[in-house]
Amino acid sequence: MTNNTLIIGASGGIGRALVRKFSERGDTVFTVDRKRGHSEKHTEDADNIHSYHIASHSDTEISALVANFKDADININNVVIALGMLHNHDADIHPEKRMEEVSEQSLSVYFAVNSIIPMLWLKHLINIIDRKQATIVCLSARVGSISDNGLGGWYGYRASKAALNMLVKTASVEYRRRVKDSVLVCYHPGTVDTALSKPFQKNVAAEKLFTADFTASQLITHLPKLDREQACHFIDWRGEVVTW
Ligand SMILES: NC(=O)c1ccc[n+]([C@@H]2O[C@H](COP(=O)([O-])OP(=O)(O)OC[C@H]3O[C@@H](n4cnc5c(N)ncnc54)[C@H](OP(=O)(O)O)[C@@H]3O)[C@@H](O)[C@H]2O)c1
Repeated sequence: MTNNTLIIGASGGIGRALVRKFSERGDTVFTVDRKRGHSEKHTEDADNIHSYHIASHSDTEISALVANFKDADININNVVIALGMLHNHDADIHPEKRMEEVSEQSLSVYFAVNSIIPMLWLKHLINIIDRKQATIVCLSARVGSISDNGLGGWYGYRASKAALNMLVKTASVEYRRRVKDSVLVCYHPGTVDTALSKPFQKNVAAEKLFTADFTASQLITHLPKLDREQACHFIDWRGEVVTW
């Protein structure tokens, strides 16, 4: 069976690598990203890559795009939601070191991008998910683990990833009811050399800073090994369990 793979947030460092790796594997790959004049092209010219652009990941736009897929009879059995935000220079949003740096505005942006957009996708994807078997991955982060939080800081990013994990876990229960062989996955990719981690790379040992291609390959290696009896997993790039 050929996989119909959907990469949401395909313009990002990890998103682009996932598109490359899944298309090299022979999947039919559908990509979604925001319309941006400057976004770098991946190997979209490959026959098995179909790119879609939306102005924003609003409920309405996601719903309309998913309806297009449905009208075209496209069923998806493999999804990675690869978007996310840690800092935004233009909006003056940076991970907080102290409580005084927390603001209403930055918290709402963190939750909007890291928790709400992925949940809106999960809500609409149910309409085009292959009823026989489906795997849906959300790029999360170890810092979203509540039990692993020894360092503190990064309030908005941590909390929005913890919220993402809960939304994914909750959705996995309902997906399992509606699509028997469905598995949802929260994936910690490691520290990966992309725009997102750039400002925080100086204290990362060279061997712990991964390429996007590496983490994308690791994900592709570990997905088939997951116990499909379990509706939801939180794993890292080694395939090891991350505690919630
Ligand atoms: N890199 C790491 O070290 C690392 C570590 C742990 C977890 N992660 C997670 O991995 C995922 C991918 O990160 P990355 O390293 O590939 O980051 P990246 O290169 O900065 O890509 C971020 C992606 O998110 C999208 N995005 C950002 N703000 C958005 C918004 N307001 N609305 C819609 N889309 C938005 C970007 O789209 P545009 O191109 O349209 O802006 C882009 O596709 C994220 O969820 C991140 O939290 C990364």
